[in-house]
Amino acid sequence: MSNADLTHIESVLTDVALKAGAIIKEKTGTAVFEDKKNAVDLVTETDKAVEDMIREKLSTAFPDFKFMGEESFSGGDNAALSDAPTFIVDPIDGTTNFIHGFPYACTSLGLSIDKEPVVGVIYNPFLDHLYTGVKDKGSYLITNAATDSPIKAALPLKKPAQKLTLQSSIIGIEWGSDRVGNNFDTKCATFRNLSGGHDGAGFCHGFRSLGSAAMNFSAVAAGYLDAYWEGGCWAWDVCAGWVILKEAGGFVAGGNKGVWNPPVDSRKYLAVRSAPEAEQKAFVEEFWGQIDGSLE
Ligand code: IPD
Repeated sequence: MSNADLTHIESVLTDVALKAGAIIKEKTGTAVFEDKKNAVDLVTETDKAVEDMIREKLSTAFPDFKFMGEESFSGGDNAALSDAPTFIVDPIDGTTNFIHGFPYACTSLGLSIDKEPVVGVIYNPFLDHLYTGVKDKGSYLITNAATDSPIKAALPLKKPAQKLTLQSSIIGIEWGSDRVGNNFDTKCATFRNLSGGHDGAGFCHGFRSLGSAAMNFSAVAAGYLDAYWEGGCWAWDVCAGWVILKEAGGFVAGGNKGVWNPPVDSRKYLAVRSAPEAEQKAFVEEFWGQIDGSLE
């Protein structure tokens, strides 16, 4: 598919994301939630309604493309990701934030071809921030996105002055929705290794938890976060952010030691901000050295 085609797809995804954002904002404060697999894995009627709207618009515009959405998947439509052009969609990433009114919920719309993320659009309607990326065409943050005077800036927003090192980093982390078992234990032990226990000095500068994988990827792409480590989320949480980050000079390694090229549906990732490649690789190796266990 040519760059022109991908740019056209990006503009369609942008329109759809802005429509989704309008619905999400209108429903804020009215969200009635249900549990999915457990009491911290939540869904609302708005997640489902927004996904239905997105699916309808994208299948009309691109009838030959496949669709993988969080709520359709939970509803039993769970074919594995194939090489075919596939929209990978989270109607509301950060559903818990949406329910609580914490303004870091977004719509995450990605396109993968040959299982590679090639277009990504992420829209946070509360901040009116739109992140976009197209393979080989760069990535951007557009503020005031839903107004008549949007402001577009290329990512990363700044070249961080500091060298990328584990000791000087702030790292995005999430508990996710698995609060027992292997991944929970691996995360707890690794968080402890990364945050302290080394002569009381602490290892990294700190953690941040935005409550949305797509928002965490966007923050790494912008350069606000140095890295984001996750185990347990899904392709629809990361596909759009993946393109945006890579086009911003970032790097996605595996969430477990030794995995340099994780597939987009591998469910465990270490996303690293823009920096010289040697620094990124040294950071990844150092981070992996602190992982206590192995994510599933
Ligand atoms: C969740 C968020 C969260 C991540 C979870 C995801 P949802 O997505 O991205 O940050 O840790 O694994 O399930 O449920 O809000 O769409």
